[in-house]
Amino acid sequence: MSDAIKFMLNNEMRAVSGLPPTTTILQYLRLQERLTGTKEGCAEGDCGACTVIVGKLENGKMAYEAINACIVFLPTLDGRHLITVENLGMNAVQKAMVSCHGSQCGFCTPGFVMSLTACMNNHENASDENIQDAISGNLCRCTGYRPILDAARQANKSQERHLKTDMEALEGLQRARMFAYEHGGRQFFSPHTPEDLAEVCAQHPGATLLGGGTDVGLWVTKRHKHLETVIYTGNVAALREVKKTAAGLEIGGAVSYAHAFESLAAYDPSMEVLLRRFASTQIRNLGTVGGNIANGSPIGDGPPPLIALGARLVLRSKSGVREIPLEEFFIAYGKQAREKGEFVEKIIVPAKPENVLFRVYKISKRFDQDISAVCAAFAIELRDGKVASARIAFGGMAGTPKRATHAEKSLTGKPWSEEAVRGAMSEMEKDYQPLTDMRASAGYRMQVAQNLLYRCFVESAQPETETRVYGYGD
Ligand SMILES: Cc1cc2nc3c(=O)[nH]c(=O)nc-3n(C[C@H](O)[C@H](O)[C@H](O)COP(=O)(O)OP(=O)(O)OC[C@H]3O[C@@H](n4cnc5c(N)ncnc54)[C@H](O)[C@@H]3O)c2cc1C
Ligand code: FES
Ligand code: FES
Repeated sequence: MSDAIKFMLNNEMRAVSGLPPTTTILQYLRLQERLTGTKEGCAEGDCGACTVIVGKLENGKMAYEAINACIVFLPTLDGRHLITVENLGMNAVQKAMVSCHGSQCGFCTPGFVMSLTACMNNHENASDENIQDAISGNLCRCTGYRPILDAARQANKSQERHLKTDMEALEGLQRARMFAYEHGGRQFFSPHTPEDLAEVCAQHPGATLLGGGTDVGLWVTKRHKHLETVIYTGNVAALREVKKTAAGLEIGGAVSYAHAFESLAAYDPSMEVLLRRFASTQIRNLGTVGGNIANGSPIGDGPPPLIALGARLVLRSKSGVREIPLEEFFIAYGKQAREKGEFVEKIIVPAKPENVLFRVYKISKRFDQDISAVCAAFAIELRDGKVASARIAFGGMAGTPKRATHAEKSLTGKPWSEEAVRGAMSEMEKDYQPLTDMRASAGYRMQVAQNLLYRCFVESAQPETETRVYGYGD
């Protein structure tokens, strides 16, 4: 039996059926609702022209997030409030965009307005860093950004907060059981518990699991892939929790990077920088840590630091639960240790002991919204000036995220010295045979990987550089 997709659009009720489950929010808005303020620029989450705000009930309160409508499937809106630029009226952000000349051709403007409105709503007093992060996923080819930043600062001063939801009406849309939607033989399931998720995965072993859809959405919009059955993890409450335990951290398989940000950033200032440089605010609001691992990408930014920290992956299916070291999940390019019907239930990240030197570095051409050419993570356990153990993991250096086992071995037991570090840098050539592609040449990748170990060493000897924010051009 198929339910209609029930949600609020700009505070009005909607019950939608008769559309394929992979219809994007953007297609729905522009083609069904004829709300054309939300623009299509790239249809792959890169430009922000399609930014909308989604409000959801979290522990009895509204949580509002800016997201990319172009890659998000409509059924994920069930039980939520979709807010578009048409709903804002002349709010403080729009007024400031006019008075500061933040708009020229205007194509990007609705997206910027939505990103900034969400930012102003979510921060009592947004800092420049908050503002820059909020628009890190919005491109403008006309203004040069300065007038947009001026507009944001001006709007921020007004302290006007705009987002409102009829919470009683939204509460009425919350479901007690799994949401199931079907159109033309294609199905979408949104279970609420891990047990139901395991059951529906067992019934549909060939189904596509959907977290934030920041990879899966593009399979549809760019590769025109036809997804027969989709199982959404975003309403499984137990998978959306971040728990701090005595042993460290447990991150549920459907926790977004935005939600995990604070807990992960606490590991090291370099981790905070990496997370700020992970895609954009819109993508971090959607993209999950579990999806970033499960996609098996060799250039994902999550796996290298998590592997270096000794994270373990908990996989669950109807037949049980198993736990593996994260690095063992990545078998070869495009091949992961996930059985049919299994899903990532959680990621367990151990606490970082005091005597472990931990650093992570992302090398990409731009600060924001860019995929890594190389991502390096180091966890060096030091005792009495010697390396007691080393965990070094790289992205972008092989067909999978991979540990530098030769380099690790060469460091272990030696004094943490320039000589030992230079020896380990040479050993890295046995660990990796990187590829040349559009992001970097093989030679560049190898040199940068070796130099990042050296940088980690130099920074450890100069503690005043430790908390430096690695900025543009690093
Ligand atoms: C514009 C843009 C910028 C990006 N920038 C970055 C970046 O800077 N760094 C980076 O690392 N990535 C980046 N990405 C890639 C992407 O955002 C991340 O990989 C993200 O974390 C994927 O999570 P998701 O929840 O959106 O995954 P989805 O797209 O929902 O799923 C990805 C894969 O994981 C599977 N899956 C999802 N959840 C589970 C689960 N619980 N159990 C088992 N399998 C599951 C899906 O079936 C699919 O195979 C970017 C993407 C875009 C569009
Ligand atoms: S259209 Fe470019 S991010 Fe959606
Ligand atoms: S005003 Fe033209 S793209 Fe921004």
